[in-house]
Amino acid sequence: MVRHFLDISDFSRATLQSIIDDSIRRKATAKAARVVPGPLAGKTLAMIFENPSTRTRISFDLAMRALGGDTIMLTGAEMQLGRGETIGDTARVLSRYVDAIMIRTLEAAKVEELAANATIPVINGLTRRSHPCQVLADLMTMIEKRGPMDGKTVAWTGSSSNVLISWIHAAPRFGFRLKIATPAEYAPDPSFLDWARREGGEVELGDDPEAAVRGVDCVVTDTWVSMGDTDGERRHNVLKPYQVSSRLMALAHPDAIFMHCLPAHRGDEVEGAVMDGPQSVVWDEAENRLHVQKGILAWCFAGAGA
Ligand code: CP
Ligand code: NVA
Repeated sequence: MVRHFLDISDFSRATLQSIIDDSIRRKATAKAARVVPGPLAGKTLAMIFENPSTRTRISFDLAMRALGGDTIMLTGAEMQLGRGETIGDTARVLSRYVDAIMIRTLEAAKVEELAANATIPVINGLTRRSHPCQVLADLMTMIEKRGPMDGKTVAWTGSSSNVLISWIHAAPRFGFRLKIATPAEYAPDPSFLDWARREGGEVELGDDPEAAVRGVDCVVTDTWVSMGDTDGERRHNVLKPYQVSSRLMALAHPDAIFMHCLPAHRGDEVEGAVMDGPQSVVWDEAENRLHVQKGILAWCFAGAGA
């Protein structure tokens, strides 16, 4: 059975927790791993980016190398994909050349079609719908800082985004409460909330950021204008009251941490004093992308008998 990594909702808690535990172990031995032959020697990961990336691109590249493998960096535009070759045919051909594919593209359906036609693992490196690798790193960061997620409360304030959807996917899997505050027009699609509740998740949606953050263990936000969004000006106007300011952060638990997937826009979704303040763990969170990619790659390749 090919092991794709497409969405947090596809997995049991045991699998997700095992990837995080493995990533934490790999983080502890990261220096040693650079000098011993890695378990993925001889394996190649193709990375297809149809949208820009700093963290995902660099962390997957370094993670694959740390495990002994190689990478090929591609953009959709420079492949025949950009001239209309189908995703299915691209998947069949790449499956003969490389050992796994990581793709960043806006259309979630494209990633699913790639996975359906590939005989090698496919990893979702962000779509407009979800960003599972990011949220696995976020969970790893929170577990490192505050222990198991069970019984914790996480607040999201700002616009819905791919990162929020993966947080919604994670809530029932990890047993934490998720309180979301967005303006109605930038709220997550109700189908995601319905899914989380059916799965036993405690996910609340409102439009009051102060109510959402009161007493929580973690405050998370994301850029107001995601890749593919075209209504930037309206978003800046409507989302202003949802900024994670020092005043808002003071309503959370005194030990609360602040997370952001980055890139951040100080003065928009987060005040500089929060982003660069003592409660912010954004740099550890960014570093953990590297360690969690190793866990994800190791898990995917273990299924392929690597
Ligand atoms: N957080 C994140 O995915 O960053 P990049 O867009 O730089 O990969
Ligand atoms: N929601 C953001 C995340 C970037 C990592 C975007 O899609 O642009």
